[in-house]
Amino acid sequence: MAIPDSFLEELNARTDIVDVVSGYVSLTKKGNRYWGLCPFHSEKTPSFSVSPDRQMCYCFGCHKGGGAIHFIMEVENVSFPDAVNILAQRAGLQVPETRGNPDNRKRRERLYQLNKDAARWYHQNLLESAHRSALNYFTNRGLSRRTITNFGLGYALDQWDGLIREMTQRGYEKAELLDAGLAIKTDKGRIYDRFRNRVMFPIIDLRGNVIGFGGRVLDDSTPKYLNSPDTIIFNKSKNLFALNLARKSKRGMLILTEGYMDTIALHQAGFDCAIASLGTSLTEEHARMIAQRTGQVVISYDSDSAGVNAAQRAIGLLNKTGVSVKVLKVTGAKDPDEFIKKYGPDAFQKLIERSESHIEFRLLQVKGKYDLKQDDQRVACIQEMAETIAALPGPAEREVYGGRMAKDLGISPDTMLHEIEQCRRRNYRKEQRQRERRALQPVQQHQPEDRRLRYDNMRSGKAEEGVIRLLLGDASLFAQTGELSPEDFTVPLYGRVFGQLRQRWNDQRSTDLNAMGQELTGEEMNLLVSILQHPVSQTNREQAMADYIKTIQTEALKGKRAGTVDDSALMAFRKQKHREETT
Ligand code: UTP
Ligand code: MN
Repeated sequence: MAIPDSFLEELNARTDIVDVVSGYVSLTKKGNRYWGLCPFHSEKTPSFSVSPDRQMCYCFGCHKGGGAIHFIMEVENVSFPDAVNILAQRAGLQVPETRGNPDNRKRRERLYQLNKDAARWYHQNLLESAHRSALNYFTNRGLSRRTITNFGLGYALDQWDGLIREMTQRGYEKAELLDAGLAIKTDKGRIYDRFRNRVMFPIIDLRGNVIGFGGRVLDDSTPKYLNSPDTIIFNKSKNLFALNLARKSKRGMLILTEGYMDTIALHQAGFDCAIASLGTSLTEEHARMIAQRTGQVVISYDSDSAGVNAAQRAIGLLNKTGVSVKVLKVTGAKDPDEFIKKYGPDAFQKLIERSESHIEFRLLQVKGKYDLKQDDQRVACIQEMAETIAALPGPAEREVYGGRMAKDLGISPDTMLHEIEQCRRRNYRKEQRQRERRALQPVQQHQPEDRRLRYDNMRSGKAEEGVIRLLLGDASLFAQTGELSPEDFTVPLYGRVFGQLRQRWNDQRSTDLNAMGQELTGEEMNLLVSILQHPVSQTNREQAMADYIKTIQTEALKGKRAGTVDDSALMAFRKQKHREETT
C-alpha cells in the first residue's frame, strides 16, 4: 500500500513548495521565507510562512504545517496517496502502482474522466438539431455560440437513461455513475439519470477537471435547478462556479453573483471576473478562496430581500478575511443577468463604479429597520449605527460615516461620535477579556485532545523535542544516538518518530520529514513542523545533542514518568511556547 520511498524522494526533489503554495496563496518574500494569508484559517495579516530551504510551510497562527504533500492534503482535503498523485501530475511523474487497496486515486480519476465524457456528451446533444429547443433556450436568453462553447454548456436528453446507456457503452460502470452523482437509484434498485431534459452547466475546478453539474429546466417547472450532490470529487463549499475562468481575469477584482446565469451573462458582457457559489450560500472556505485571489470583491446579488440578506451574510464572511468588499445595487432589474440585458455592459460598469462600500450598505440596512418618526426607534437606530461604525478600524472612516449618519438622523455629529466612542470603549474591554482568555490557548492547539502529544515530563519532553529537531536538521547526529532508546522517551510521538528516523538512517534511507510523510497523521505532522520552527544553533550541535540525551536518560532513570499532566509544568511550557512563537 505504501508508496515507495524512492518515488517520494524523487517527487519531493522535483516539487518546489513555494510553487505549489503559490497556486493557492499569494506569497511575498521576506528574509529567507515567503509569507501569505493562511489558507487554513481566516486572518488579515499573514502568519503563514513557506521556507524554501526546508521545503516546509507553517502557520504561526493555527499551527498547521508540513511539506508540499501535507499542504495539498489539507488544502484539497484529500488523502496522502491522492495528494501524491496531484503533485506527481504536476511534476510529470508516474506514481508507481501499489499493491492492495485499489485506492481512491483510481476511483477519482475515473470519475473525472466520466464527468468530462458526460460534459462532452451533453454539449454535443445541445448542438444537435434534434434538440433545437435546448439551444433555443440559451439563445433566447441571449447567450452567444462562443459563450456556450466557453462554458461548455450542454443538454441532458428527455430520457430516463440516456446518459447511463451512453456511458456504460463506453465502459463505465453504473456504480461509477452513481458515485459521480450522475445517476440515482430508487429504493427498488432501479437506476436512472439524475439530469433529464435540462440545460447543463458543468462545474470546473481550478485544475480544469469537471467535478459536477448544475441543470436547469427549460420552462417554469420545479425544481428550477438540480445540482450534483457532493461526491468524492465535488464539494460545494470548496468550489465556486467559473473561478477557473475568473482567476485569469485582468480586472483586479472578483464579482460575486448568486447564479449560474448571472455569472455567464457577466462574462459574455466582458466582466470575466464573475463567479457564483453553487446553489449554496457562501461559506467561510469560499470567502478564503476569494480573498486569496483578489483584494477587491464586488457582491452583486439579486435585488430581492433574499439577495440582500445573503449579501449581508457574505459581507460578514468576507470581512473576516481582510478583502475589500463592495456591494453593488442592481436597480430596475431583479438580477445582474436581467440588468445587463436591459441596460447593457456600460450601465453595469457604472454600477460597479458606484457600488457602495459594504459600510454604507450595512448602514442603510440598519436605517431601513427602524421607523424614524418614533423617538424610541430613532434612539435604537442611533445606537445600532454607532455600534456598526465603532467596528470600523480607521478614525477617519468613523468620523466620515458618523457625521453622515448624524445628519441623516437629525442629531449633532458630536453626539454621534460620542456614542461611537462609548461603543468602542465597551468593545475594547470585551476584547481585552477575550485576549486574556486566549493567552492560555496556544498550547491547547498544540496539545489537543490527543494525549500522546502532551508533555507529562517537561524536562524530558523539551529534551526529546530538541533531539528530534536536531536530527531532522542534521542526519550526521544520528551517530551520537547509539545509547538512546525510543523507550526512554516520555512523549510517545517523539519516541516513535525517533525510532523510525533511526531505522531509516540505519537503512540509509532519507531522514527528511517530507520523506516520512505517509507514516504521520496530519496532526502529528503539524506538531513536528511546529517544533522545527525554533531556531537551532549552528554551533555546538553535538554538545546540545549530548546534553539532550543525558537529560532524557536521567529523567528516564528517575522513573519519574508521571501518569498525569503536571499542571505547573504545563503552564510553564505554555508560556515558554507562546513566547517563542511570538518572537
Ligand atoms: P436563481 O433563481 O436566482 O437562479 O437562483 P438564476 O441563476 O438567476 O437562474 P435563472 O436566471 O432563473 O435561470 C440562484 C442560484 O441558486 C441555485 C442555482 O445555483 C442558481 O444559479 N438554485 C436555484 C438551485 O440550486 N436550485 C433551485 O431550484 C434554484
Ligand atoms: Mn436569473
